[in-house]
Amino acid sequence: MENTIIIRGGRRLSGEVEISSCKNSAVAILPAVCMASEIVKLYDVPEIEDTKVLVRLLEKLNIDVIVNKDVFTIDATSIQNVDLLNDDVRKLRASYYFMGALLGRFRYVKMYSPGGCNLGPRPIDLHLKGFEALGAKIEQVDDTITISAEELKGTDIYLDFASVGATINIMLAACFASGKTTIENAAKEPEIIDLSSMLNKMGAQIRGAGTSKITIYGVSRLKGCIHDIIPDRIETGTYIIAAAAMGDNVKVTNVIPQHIEALLSKLEEMGVKLEIGVDYVRVLSAENLKAVDVITQPFPGFATDLQQPLTALLTSAQGDSSIEETIYMERFKHCDELNKMGANTEWTTGRSKIHGGTKLHGAKITATDLRCGASLIIAALMADGETEISNAHHIYRGYENITQKLRNLGADVQ
Ligand code: EPU
Repeated sequence: MENTIIIRGGRRLSGEVEISSCKNSAVAILPAVCMASEIVKLYDVPEIEDTKVLVRLLEKLNIDVIVNKDVFTIDATSIQNVDLLNDDVRKLRASYYFMGALLGRFRYVKMYSPGGCNLGPRPIDLHLKGFEALGAKIEQVDDTITISAEELKGTDIYLDFASVGATINIMLAACFASGKTTIENAAKEPEIIDLSSMLNKMGAQIRGAGTSKITIYGVSRLKGCIHDIIPDRIETGTYIIAAAAMGDNVKVTNVIPQHIEALLSKLEEMGVKLEIGVDYVRVLSAENLKAVDVITQPFPGFATDLQQPLTALLTSAQGDSSIEETIYMERFKHCDELNKMGANTEWTTGRSKIHGGTKLHGAKITATDLRCGASLIIAALMADGETEISNAHHIYRGYENITQKLRNLGADVQ
């Protein structure tokens, strides 16, 4: 795979782009399949690097995965709970979902700490505290974590922060705990609803996913199911922002608009004209854009994953915009890269300022993380001249077929 994306900017975008299925659902659903005693068939699995790595990890566990385009048929009946001590574990954050899934099914898991985008500190203390509350013992030696339990017992867990990962991991382990578990101050992201609806089809008893209180009644076995993964709200937002930056009437399809309401209302506040359909968003026009202030929040607030792409668009708005980042305080490396293209941004822990009205020019820049990459792609589409984005592997982790999708809209991308 080429690790550099080259974009000649300034071309207008038009036509339609179809959104793929959700990365952050898929990366929770694939490890969850470990818990099934029958075959699970998943439709619409995004073809991205993260799902490829997870398939390799499933195969390490002796799980049979048949991939037919975006349909995965997964048979975990001969699963072997081997230690996950290989580099693939460190390639993505979501490998930590094997903790909840394997602890639930086998009462034991040994694996490396997860990797993922470098967004500053990303502790997993809430996951581990949750497992302990269910009765597990944690041992950590250097980079290796062992979690084991004689038995898992349902209990009441309050999360100090509504963490997506901790909510999912506790939910997974609690499916096989005896009795009732409640998670208070649970995260409400759509990906959690997607996962719980798959688990419930498999026979789990999860109530309240999508609210701040989730109740899980333990079961002893999970069966197979067929499941379709929801569309990716962050990919949706990325293309909508790209269309606001350079589009002439671009239609973004396979969208659940309710998942991106915070972004849509921010764009409208900036002056972007949108047509919001049942399952699409059309970006009608975006002229004389105004600066805005954004605060990132857990869902349904403005997604941290979208502040980076939005920053690229804000460089063209009139006036000074500000972004307050409440989830990942250091998630601003895209600002340094955008400045190399002529943007005028500054950032400090938890906050960035974008002095708008600048014209971007092509440059050699680096995708330091996945959504930084998305931000740089949008900037490169807006810029005069040629931009070379290195470390594109970060982008391929989360955006299916991005170069082809942009070319179909008329961008000059290689
Ligand atoms: N946190 C803790 N302790 C924990 C867990 C989280 O302090 O045990 C803190 C984190 O440091 C962070 C905050 O809580 O400050 C939120 O973290 P959360 O656990 O909600 O995030 P995550 O599960 O690690 C998922 C997505 C991210 C997305 C965030 C926030 C996956 C695989 N990742 O991460 O997606 O930014 O939720 O919505 O689902 C991306 O797709 O580019 C991406 C980074």
